[in-house]
Amino acid sequence: MKLLGISCYYHDSAACLIDEGRIVAAAQEERFTRIKHDNGFPVNAVRYCLAQGSQGAEGSPGGPGSDGGDGGRAVQIDGVVFYDKPLLKFHRILETYLAVAPRGLRSYVQALPLWLREKLWIPPRIEEALEACAAGAGDGGSPPPIYFTEHHEAHAASAFYPSPFDAAAVLTLDGVGEWATTTIGVGEGEQLRLIREIRFPHSLGLLYSAFTYFTGFKVNSGEYKLMGLAPYGTGRYTDLIKRELIDVKEDGSFRLNMEYFGYLDGLAMTNGRFAALFGGPPRPPESPIGVREMDLARSIQEVTEEVVLKLARHARELTGKRHLCLAGGVALNCVANGILLRAGIFDDLWIQPAAGDAGGALGAPLAVWHNAMGKPRVTVTGASGKRRDLMQGALLGPEFSADQIREYLDDRGIPREELADADWAPRIARLIAAGAVVGLCHGRMEFGPRALGNRSIVGDARSPRMQSIMNLKIKYRESFRPFAPSVLEERAGDYFELDRPSPYMLLVADVV
Ligand SMILES: [Fe+2]
Repeated sequence: MKLLGISCYYHDSAACLIDEGRIVAAAQEERFTRIKHDNGFPVNAVRYCLAQGSQGAEGSPGGPGSDGGDGGRAVQIDGVVFYDKPLLKFHRILETYLAVAPRGLRSYVQALPLWLREKLWIPPRIEEALEACAAGAGDGGSPPPIYFTEHHEAHAASAFYPSPFDAAAVLTLDGVGEWATTTIGVGEGEQLRLIREIRFPHSLGLLYSAFTYFTGFKVNSGEYKLMGLAPYGTGRYTDLIKRELIDVKEDGSFRLNMEYFGYLDGLAMTNGRFAALFGGPPRPPESPIGVREMDLARSIQEVTEEVVLKLARHARELTGKRHLCLAGGVALNCVANGILLRAGIFDDLWIQPAAGDAGGALGAPLAVWHNAMGKPRVTVTGASGKRRDLMQGALLGPEFSADQIREYLDDRGIPREELADADWAPRIARLIAAGAVVGLCHGRMEFGPRALGNRSIVGDARSPRMQSIMNLKIKYRESFRPFAPSVLEERAGDYFELDRPSPYMLLVADVV
């Protein structure tokens, strides 16, 4: 039985295909359209997933730029699962508007047509896309059933079901879905229940985004820049934030003081009172970053870490589980995750690599398959006999065949040299040791925001200049932005204060 998951219309639209609980394919729409964080209906990603499903493991149905469907007939699917409940979400937007009216009228009027035209009409849109991919119901049959999960159910499922744990506490930390912004759940076997929730407008994700906006970065994509800036600052605003903006209880529950935020009326994340609290208006994007921005970054990071630790302690008390699974956009905060691991509240953590909304496309069909249909979980064990996660290294996207690559390079007159499999790694090692920067494109594309070696830029981590060379010359980006080190799994302990593998760039550890 094959289920197709879809997430879209907020940010990072994606599609995912599961077959009997195994993940066959998952991809973000942005990788095909080249529009970063593309939030449109993921028609290309759906097409890729269906084509991949029809070709089995060895298939290579076309990479980004191809229409993904050339390789053959698209696969028959048995159900489609959408990652949230649009009517509930719309209800939240209406209620929020009514609570602040007439403020917010303008943004409400701007948002309304899209809701009425597209966002409330998911089933026809899905049927149309499937028809376009010639997958629908085959010859004249009815289209596959469409299911809806709640947003945080999809996040929680994306964290628990692919994890290597039979039982675990589950924490979702996010901006907002329908109403929930934060949930604590418990997973046991194929069952997953959410047992606590914090509701909009009280949101750790939106609080972090408010600081992202105020320090001049883009909301929903610049959050990791703010995290990268934090180590350069001091926590001189931490107490002020806790006094004025957020009231955190011992169990990790919290309330935001909405007098400082603008997102209820949809005009901006923060308002004039927020600016007055931090000594002036937001930093205009692209203007120089000052000490204030660095200190704000450090301070909101410290507050986030405190909330995450308290929530995790509460989740442990509530569930009694020894393991914790995490998802939701805040779970991409690898600094907070590292602190959480070292705090020892849980024996082990597993974080969904596509922790943001793209991962909803993966969690939604898994929730239906296991939680609603009661199907048993798939287990995979590694060479050591230890249970592994189901993400296959998050390498779930399209790949290019050798022929496609040859053709691409030859068409453009780009010189090429073909190496035997055993030769390319030593060649790259020699190149980077000599100071070169190398772009890698091989195998299947990563699912989730992190480049994990198959679509990556690599350089010599021993060179003190390499970070700025790569940031300024190669990627044209801010000099403070960090890169991830990559070392052999069995040697991780030689370099880092870390006693376990970290394959998904989701845990920050100190250097030995
Ligand atoms: Fe989300």
